[in-house]
Amino acid sequence: MSHKVAVIGGDGIGPEVIEVALDTLRAAGADLETTDFRLGGFRYLEDGTVLTDQILSELRAYDAIFLGAVGTPDVPPGIIERGLLLRARFELDLYINLRPFVTTNGHEFIVIRENTEGTYAGEGGFLRKGTSDEIATQGSVNTRKGVERCIRYGFELARSRDRKHLTLVHKTNVLTFSGDLWERAFNEVAIEYPDVTTAYNHIDAACIYFVEDPYRYDVVVTDNLFGDILTDLGGAISGGIGLASSANLNPERTAPSLFEPVHGSAPDIAGKGLANPTAAVLSGAMMLDFLGENQIADRVRLACKDVAGDGDTATIASAIMANL
Ligand code: IPM
Ligand code: MN
Repeated sequence: MSHKVAVIGGDGIGPEVIEVALDTLRAAGADLETTDFRLGGFRYLEDGTVLTDQILSELRAYDAIFLGAVGTPDVPPGIIERGLLLRARFELDLYINLRPFVTTNGHEFIVIRENTEGTYAGEGGFLRKGTSDEIATQGSVNTRKGVERCIRYGFELARSRDRKHLTLVHKTNVLTFSGDLWERAFNEVAIEYPDVTTAYNHIDAACIYFVEDPYRYDVVVTDNLFGDILTDLGGAISGGIGLASSANLNPERTAPSLFEPVHGSAPDIAGKGLANPTAAVLSGAMMLDFLGENQIADRVRLACKDVAGDGDTATIASAIMANL
């Protein structure tokens, strides 16, 4: 079956890794009808476009969005990140950010990051900006609905897996408002899933356990910012960020989901053929899963399995291809 995919290569190494990923998915048997969208920091510098209402509504017509990386040092921080990536996550209601890991010791676990709220929501502002009495606030937005749907997704995912174990990560001892909401929602939803065992870790402790004892994790659910930070650490314990894949999901499928590697645009190595395309390839496999092409997705994942992370883009790409 053919799938319509909107492709946003973006900035830096984004287009390079996406090209390898699309070649790999197609070689594995995926039938993808792709359309390129020229978006990212480079486009903003060209004509000021970040993501217009028009482009956003065009994107809604696709089955999925496949994104490389966005952001360039030539554009002030936040313009592209908030205006393009976060806007897409929020407006397409991609409330689940799934980030699976296989540690260097072979332990497989998955982090669910809430993807539409928390400190990312953009609440806050300046008072008396630029003066010596300046105040900046950046609130954390946590709705019962937003928290509960994310936690519920976590329980469903845990239930579908062998170990059926879900860990909530937060900082309830200090964030006594948002943490309380997360903890209550977690404990209430848990009653509906007696077959799933649960645990709770503070975020700081979770950072230690990720490194020293990741085996305790099966499915982890956490808020947006904790999830952002924790999943970079997840990448670091799993052979590096060059292997870390992710899916921004709208589970109800009221809009297309977006698939992207966890890594950024890495402007320092862009255009040099040095980027590891594996994270993009594996993100493509997550896209195929969501599109119902699970066999092809498994084939792609298997092909990536024993490919060493070292070597240039072309070497890694051909090693993956050879394994298909
Ligand atoms: C990620 C990235 C983004 C985030 C940035 C680029 C806005 O770091 O996907 O993890 O913070 O969510
Ligand atoms: Mn991040």
